[in-house]
Amino acid sequence: MSDKRSDQMIKTRVLIARADTWAKFASDEIVSSIHNVLSGQERCSLVLTGGKTAEALYNYWASSGVLPLDRIRFFFGDERCVPPWHPDSNYALAMTTLFANSNSPGCEVNRMDVDNTDYEAASRSYERLLPARIDILLLGMGTDGHVASLFPNGEALQSFDRTVVSVRGAKPPFDRLTITPAVIANAGLVFLLATGSQKGEVLAEALKSPADYVSLPVRLTIGRTWLLDDEAAMQAGLYKGCIN
Ligand code: 6PG
Repeated sequence: MSDKRSDQMIKTRVLIARADTWAKFASDEIVSSIHNVLSGQERCSLVLTGGKTAEALYNYWASSGVLPLDRIRFFFGDERCVPPWHPDSNYALAMTTLFANSNSPGCEVNRMDVDNTDYEAASRSYERLLPARIDILLLGMGTDGHVASLFPNGEALQSFDRTVVSVRGAKPPFDRLTITPAVIANAGLVFLLATGSQKGEVLAEALKSPADYVSLPVRLTIGRTWLLDDEAAMQAGLYKGCIN
């Protein structure tokens, strides 16, 4: 391990679970952080991500009922520009998993308004909605190293004066809104959700040159918490024989 890599890993909290217990394990970690936040304030802001990895966690949350839904302000880190019922919609993903059994009256879910086809206006309006500092931010990762809809070498990675922007993504649906690196940098806690060996390979690559987030946006999460399964951890060279 190079010095640069070990420096970064000291700062990154890497938590590893067996694949079959990963969703509960990730939930325990995140829910405990939510309760920590709630011990000092009335409501906790939580940014959701899209993707299959998050879906497993959301299904666990729906079946276990462990999330204090009425004390959480839910936001999205990115959205595909499709209607709210569309199978590619991150909002639909949350509604059909996490919120499928919920009728909590105090529950606040802030969807990105992608029905507005003026995506610039839609991103400005979500900027006004997002708290200045998110308490807890969840991010999945694509096998190209993207997080939210921040794709490798995308213009959004250079949007230093914005918190939400519209982008043309690298995979369909192409039109999307996404948070910018500033939101990730300002968030109180960031959890990267990654399972499987392919994701592990990307993390191994990320650790070789930690500062270059433009070519591999997942590097924006180095120094935060990585919630991995054993396969991802092994492939990333982070598995030390001690898993949960
Ligand atoms: C999106 C996501 C995206 C996702 C990753 C991981 O809307 O596409 O927010 O960043 O989290 O692509 O997806 P998987 O978990 O399905 O691999």
